Amino acid sequence: MNNITIFSDINEISQAVAKKWAVLSEQAISDHGGFHVALSGGSTPAHLYNYLATSAYKQRINWDKTYIYFGDERSVSPDHKESNFKMASDTLLDKVDIPVSQIYRMKAEVAEIEESAVEYAALLKDKLPMSENGESQFDLVLLGMGDDGHTASLFPGTQILQEKSELVRAVFVEKMKTWRMSITFRAINNARNIAVLVTGENKKKVLSKVLETGVANPLYPIMMIQPSGHIEWYIDAAAASGV
Ligand code: 6PG
Repeated sequence: MNNITIFSDINEISQAVAKKWAVLSEQAISDHGGFHVALSGGSTPAHLYNYLATSAYKQRINWDKTYIYFGDERSVSPDHKESNFKMASDTLLDKVDIPVSQIYRMKAEVAEIEESAVEYAALLKDKLPMSENGESQFDLVLLGMGDDGHTASLFPGTQILQEKSELVRAVFVEKMKTWRMSITFRAINNARNIAVLVTGENKKKVLSKVLETGVANPLYPIMMIQPSGHIEWYIDAAAASGV
């Protein structure tokens, strides 16, 4: 795959992805009046979000026309240390002038998480621009990859991997004994742009398997992504050391 770039570390990755975000944002705003981006969770993107909140990007990016969604969320309250919403708020959203009404939190802490997923899917259909083939389309989806090849909350062996029509589902992740909410392959594959950020020595084994197979393999859900748009992999030297 020729859309893979290896960087020395997460700081270099953050600078490259922030630049990409700014360019895509300017294009989307001039094309259809807004930039609709799904944030990924976990620890890797925190560096990128902090970087986007530095003066260079704070001024450059038109936050007034930016619409923030989440690729997945844990079943915890928005102030919980495990919350992706909390991580994104602490590192970026509380530091830039983005209207609160343009930040769409996944309410995954509720007991009725499946109904909440249906509501979030309806919100995506309502807010996201439409692609030429009539699909709800993110301008950018940020993704990470776990050391088991999961992405968002699309974990190996879970029902959500088979979801073909819904954009968002709740999913019980057996190995963690916990509920998650996640966008599905349909929502991801219809994005205009996807950026996958992979860092750390602990990812090198699975990354080399993922990149060498190059074909859809439910063992590694991230390889089931068949984007209609553009996908870029941003990998650090530690994660690439097994490739
Ligand atoms: C989550 C993420 C998840 C993450 C990977 C990698 O909610 O945990 O959305 O898919 O991207 O687990 O996480 P790290 O960046 O912490 O390695």
